[in-house]
Amino acid sequence: MSSPTTIAAVKGFRDVLPDEAGRWRDLEDAAARLFARYGCEEIRLPIVERTELFARSLGDTTDVVEKEMYSFLDRDETSLTLRPEATASVVRAYVESGLVQRDPAARLWYRGPMFRRERPQRGRYRQFYQIGAEVFGRDDPLADAELLVMLMRYLEHVGARDTRLELNSVGDARCRPAYRDRLREFGQRELAALCPDCHRRLERNPLRILDCKVEGCRAVVARAPVVLDSLCEPCRVHFDEVRALLDQERVPYVVNARLVRGLDYYCRTAFEVVGGGLGAQNAVGGGGRYDGLVAALGGPDVAGVGFALGLERLAMVAPGEPAAPAVAAVVLPLEPRAVRPALAFATRLRDQGMTVALEPAGRSLKALLRAADRRGARLAFILGEDELRAGRATVRDLARHADRPQALALDTPAPALAEQVQALLGSAP
Ligand code: HAM
Repeated sequence: MSSPTTIAAVKGFRDVLPDEAGRWRDLEDAAARLFARYGCEEIRLPIVERTELFARSLGDTTDVVEKEMYSFLDRDETSLTLRPEATASVVRAYVESGLVQRDPAARLWYRGPMFRRERPQRGRYRQFYQIGAEVFGRDDPLADAELLVMLMRYLEHVGARDTRLELNSVGDARCRPAYRDRLREFGQRELAALCPDCHRRLERNPLRILDCKVEGCRAVVARAPVVLDSLCEPCRVHFDEVRALLDQERVPYVVNARLVRGLDYYCRTAFEVVGGGLGAQNAVGGGGRYDGLVAALGGPDVAGVGFALGLERLAMVAPGEPAAPAVAAVVLPLEPRAVRPALAFATRLRDQGMTVALEPAGRSLKALLRAADRRGARLAFILGEDELRAGRATVRDLARHADRPQALALDTPAPALAEQVQALLGSAP
């Protein structure tokens, strides 16, 4: 019989191995701590939602809704979707749970996987992870500025290198229709140079030509009128105040009048954090204001502003220090009779908060010491025949390749044992 073939992960779906997962945990922990200072509380959301939630909130002419969603019919014929982003879910939860009445100014942050069927490449996956935050119930520029200060402080705190905040205003329901018309007229004059998708976009939602990825379209779009020039007075005032507050807090940003976001729910403030050295997929995060979204999803007319960071890309611009080996000591039973006391010894140390590895019995001392070395441990506790007879474990200093004169009594009670081991570790080089 031939041996079974291995089964590979699905294209665009990847494993996050311990080194990377450790960094992700630090990034998430830092978010939990720092966001709390700004009044954000964590929300955990389902990964599956009704398809309609995204179709209605992200816009049915966006790339995400048109071609990137993982949607399927449940057994009862309901159309469900693996969430491509979480803002729509947060809004749904905020309305459905009644938070919108109990705590209209709720500030919620989240972390977790999102799913988009994009073409995989470096920094772009079909399952990727986000850390995001949403601030509700505030339509004043202070809320935007506070959120951006929090975002940029967070990036600084986790050591993100070479990132830039790009800021724009995309107008609101009052001034955008006029801009949309200008853009449509412009597009119609340039029709010959635009791709068939953009022809369709011009009819249904001209703004979407601004983020078309086709080279020819990008050249045309570079000459298109910009939304920043079409803002109404209240949008202009809002934008100026956001900028003034950021200037006051010395948060660096550049105004990018061509910045539009790939999702339809934004109004007024829109922004992206762009990372140098990331290649084509250089957006580490993005967000903005979405004042009509809560109402569009059946709630009251409550404002909102938020952002999401892509964790894979964040870990690339903020890789952190390589983690030191966590294992302080290894317990090495040389023979089967030593297994039980070895487990008891290791458990007592672990109960005291120490990271201790335990090897199986039955190998030579040399092989066991090699295993201990591979784990990066500094001390090994050896339990062989002599040790069992004497009731003491030999302490081997793995850095000096020598035994320590002090042996550890196997029946030492847990706290005292941990203290002795700490003292040994403290005196190791
Ligand atoms: P977004 O710009 O679609 O915004 O995604 C935010 C971030 O998620 C991106 O900047 C990027 O870092 C990461 N990302 C997106 N797609 C992928 C992918 N295929 N592979 C790897 N990373 C990816 C939103 O999702 C909005 N919900 C943000 C928001 C929150 N707006 C208001 N509140």
